[in-house]
Amino acid sequence: MNKTRPEWTSHLSFMLASIGGAVGLGNIWRFPYIMGKNGGAVFLVLYLIIIAFICAIPLCLELAMGKIYKKDPVSVYEAISPKLKIFGFASILTAILIPCFYFVVGGWILNYIWLFLTNNIPSDFSVYFSALNSNPYVPCLLTLLFLIVTAIFPYRGINSGIEKANNIMMPLFAFMLVALAIYAVTLPNAKEGLEFMFNPNFEKFTADMVLCALGQALFTLSIGMGAMMTYGSYLKPETNIKKSAYTLIFFDTLIAILAGVVIFPIVFSNGIEPTAGATLVFISLPQIFVNMPFAIPVAVIFFLLLLFAAITSGISLLETSVCCLVDHYKIKRKKAVVIISAITALFAVPSALSFGLLADFKIFDKTFFDFLDYITSNFLLPFGTLLICLIGGWYSRNIAKEAFGTDLFGKVLDFLLRFVVPVVFALVIYTGLN
Ligand code: PFF
Repeated sequence: MNKTRPEWTSHLSFMLASIGGAVGLGNIWRFPYIMGKNGGAVFLVLYLIIIAFICAIPLCLELAMGKIYKKDPVSVYEAISPKLKIFGFASILTAILIPCFYFVVGGWILNYIWLFLTNNIPSDFSVYFSALNSNPYVPCLLTLLFLIVTAIFPYRGINSGIEKANNIMMPLFAFMLVALAIYAVTLPNAKEGLEFMFNPNFEKFTADMVLCALGQALFTLSIGMGAMMTYGSYLKPETNIKKSAYTLIFFDTLIAILAGVVIFPIVFSNGIEPTAGATLVFISLPQIFVNMPFAIPVAVIFFLLLLFAAITSGISLLETSVCCLVDHYKIKRKKAVVIISAITALFAVPSALSFGLLADFKIFDKTFFDFLDYITSNFLLPFGTLLICLIGGWYSRNIAKEAFGTDLFGKVLDFLLRFVVPVVFALVIYTGLN
């Protein structure tokens, strides 16, 4: 075992880093909308069951794989069986492809913070956003800027980079989120927004909703691409995996719900239709902010919130591939960060141009940005998750033992792992590709 390998200095640091990795754009711009559209409180109950009894299982396994082998994903798969090494590369590929679209959004966030800080506010955000994206240089430069800002932390190392960043950004994130939630619920018509999100509606209960909840849970918990495996590899031997995984799930879900408590009262109190994704964050919300009391501070805090969420997730994405170069190829950390950043930049540039210059360049009828999003969310993440479940459930049983412990609840999780969860993820892949 490698004695010089870094470890988290405390359990709290690990929790903050893993929550930081999990909580990202998925929590803020997707979850609240999915919940509102799919039956509110009914969806929430279904989501909680899915996340607690299905997605918690691969999360525990990933953390356990890292903790047992104390290596990067490629070396972990190789240690389990040399035949599996190729799947380690598949997870690194996913870890490289996700930042290529995720960081484009990070660039937009930086741009919007600047807009509001300098009080340089456009009159129509819809026009502004499409002009921003049709420029051949600006989106690329913004993406590269976000990449550099994020890469600084893995460059500085686990303890003085990644750990410090999360120790500072996550508490600030929580503080700003709670402050905005208090502000939002005091707005006129806030009740309507909360009703959209929470009102139970059984009629909207469909099979599609289950798939939607599963996909969202995988993406939000960053399962299936080795990020949690990598963070698990820096754990101290005495860490209880099951407890850590459920704590992570609790906070990830709580933050997603709070994000909705911020967004929907704001949307409804201004009589705007609820949406998700880029339209919500870069067009609808900013347009609303401008006409609200405390417009500038509210907008700046909102975009800072998004920035912290995106940076801490971005760090976990970069660290996964950096860790592979460091552990598997024995490349020095700083050099590894430069190499991974260069590769990311190479693919992130065409992705940043997907809304303008390269809008007509399509792969399977999708722009490069949408293609990356589609292939990672619908195929690579569920595939990586299925693989982890098959390994833990049937091939390398010591992983499941470390992941779940030997108590009754652990036994229930182990049963689900072997006989239910793989079928579920096989179905997710099947339907995702159809
Ligand atoms: N979990 C992040 C989010 O919800 O935005 C996205 C993400 C980060 C996915 C890291 C996968 C990953 F490995």
